[in-house]
Amino acid sequence: MFTEITGATKKRMQLLEQIDARDRIDGTETSQRLKQIPPETGKFLALLAANCPDHGEFVEIGTSAGYSSLWISLALQQRGAKLKTFEILPEKIRLAQETFRAAGVTDRIELIEGDFLEKGKSLGEIAFCFLDCEKHIYVKCFDMIATKLVRGGLLIADNAIDHADAMKPLMEKAQSDDRFDCLTVPIGKGEFVCRRK
Ligand SMILES: C[S@@+](CC[C@H](N)C(=O)[O-])C[C@H]1O[C@@H](n2cnc3c(N)ncnc32)[C@H](O)[C@@H]1O
Repeated sequence: MFTEITGATKKRMQLLEQIDARDRIDGTETSQRLKQIPPETGKFLALLAANCPDHGEFVEIGTSAGYSSLWISLALQQRGAKLKTFEILPEKIRLAQETFRAAGVTDRIELIEGDFLEKGKSLGEIAFCFLDCEKHIYVKCFDMIATKLVRGGLLIADNAIDHADAMKPLMEKAQSDDRFDCLTVPIGKGEFVCRRK
């Protein structure tokens, strides 16, 4: 997987890494920033996605410019599966479209425009979900995803360490739900991994 990243994908990843790093120091307003995961989290997500159950959809909530989608999509090539990624902001949608075109992955990634809480209702069974949007809707997203996750399916929520307070309602809810085994993994900004039993 990691040794087979195409030149076009690598090039786009590097460009987005540069924009993200610049955003964080040049005073770019928070809503305009890419706020993407670091590369080690991308690799972690790809490894988890590669080992998810055979049936069920691959989903991402919060696309931004498509950086994490590119990492997850590495696992989908070998599985012949497709990622559905949801983004609400028009400017981010435009950037993500550019990313998927430039990286040549439009056959592997479907960008769904709009609010996940509305658009996500039509999803079927889910094998993998990366949750990386506004923290105040994490619990609502969890409720929507939890009932659709197949046995052995994974829900991974970003920012478990750097936004520990905002993540508390989701973590407490998932940890007290008998259907899940949960663990916070100290990689990147902290990944809260929930596996459906
Ligand atoms: C932290 S960024 C995602 C970063 C991306 N996962 C990455 O690592 O490259 C969060 C994104 O979620 C989007 N978002 C927030 N609320 C949303 C919602 N209700 N539905 C879909 N997207 C949403 C934001 O516009 C923003 O682009």
